[in-house]
Amino acid sequence: MEKREEGVNEEGAAAAAAVEAAGEAEEAEVNPWEVSGKIDYDKLIDKFGCQRLDQSLIDRVQRLTARPPHVFLRRGVFFAHRDFNEILDAYERGDKFYLYTGRGPSSEALHLGHLIPFMFTKYLQDAFKVPLVIQLTDDEKCMWKSLSVEESQRLARENAKDIIACGFDVTRTFIFSDFDYVGGAFYKNMVRVAKCVTYNKVVGIFGFTGEDHIGKVSFPPVQAVPSFPSSFPHLFNGKDHLRCLIPCAIDQDPYFRMTRDVAPRIGYHKPALIESSFFPALQGDTGKMSASDPNSAIYVTDSAKDIKDKINRYAFTGGQDTKEKQRLYGANLEVDIPVKYLSFFLDDDDELEHIKTEYGSGRMLTFDVKKRLIEILVEIVERHRRARAAVTDEMVDAFMAVRPLPSMFS
Ligand code: TRP
Repeated sequence: MEKREEGVNEEGAAAAAAVEAAGEAEEAEVNPWEVSGKIDYDKLIDKFGCQRLDQSLIDRVQRLTARPPHVFLRRGVFFAHRDFNEILDAYERGDKFYLYTGRGPSSEALHLGHLIPFMFTKYLQDAFKVPLVIQLTDDEKCMWKSLSVEESQRLARENAKDIIACGFDVTRTFIFSDFDYVGGAFYKNMVRVAKCVTYNKVVGIFGFTGEDHIGKVSFPPVQAVPSFPSSFPHLFNGKDHLRCLIPCAIDQDPYFRMTRDVAPRIGYHKPALIESSFFPALQGDTGKMSASDPNSAIYVTDSAKDIKDKINRYAFTGGQDTKEKQRLYGANLEVDIPVKYLSFFLDDDDELEHIKTEYGSGRMLTFDVKKRLIEILVEIVERHRRARAAVTDEMVDAFMAVRPLPSMFS
């Protein structure tokens, strides 16, 4: 089973060459533990060596699923990929795949940015009718944050409720906590991966230093192996060649660059990826939202009044500061956060275009754009709150039970 070959690391080499090509203009930081600065997503694609998700792929998704592409695809929220075309080729031939995504449970309250990968994964699950595994990396957060083992596990269960509230189908979805599930076939794959990754290699990919504890250095295989169907014998027994598609934010790319590098050496398919940009902070488009500043984000626990106040008070606007000037010059839509948020959450393409034209030309005022945004966000957050309140402990247990999934591919 284990094919060993020492081939060159193409993905790493391409990434390294691209970093050089990108030169010094590298102020933004994007890695699994830090996202900051003004991110140039085109540069990031070159730097990481992934591919742009272009219109022809979106059209293909529409054709294959016979439904309109999700708003996050149409608006370029998910903008990069690795081998997504191969997943679609296989699907077209009648070969299914499975989805893998995850969350590091570091906080009780989730903000809208946290929900984006899950909303999108839910759409993929429904559109392609495929099974899904969701990893809760309570071990990762315990090791990176000052959280006890017990507290990380408690947060994992709390976060599982928010994830379930996104509407996943329990007959197709397995949610697991690393602390509970690591072992058996999963652990065997971790060891296979670990043997293929040198210390120099993880330092190169993740930037660990001599001061980092060894828990961090040994963690990457934990996030790698859900990419392999044999890590889930209760789901995919005998389906070792099933392909895996990972929807994630692009800061997770380093984990999967490592995974893809190792996969062929241990006889497995490389997982495919579909990667998103970050949901910007209310204060403007520099990185993702900060858990330490409650006014930088809309939380799923915010009341209608909180949402209204935050948008009105903190949302960075490209509108002019007086009515007269706005009528005269219009808004700068490039930097305007209300417009940016609408482009994530206002499904109606015609209405979004209308708002952009009117607001950009000055016929519409910032106040009215914010008002529309508040309506939409209040509705999303209230719907989420109702759904989460309906998630019982029994439901969490049902999603997290190690069991076969009855309607995996139908
Ligand atoms: N490391 C991720 C985080 O901190 C959690 C995670 C684990 C994940 N596996 C994943 C995210 C797969 C996306 C896809 O949030």
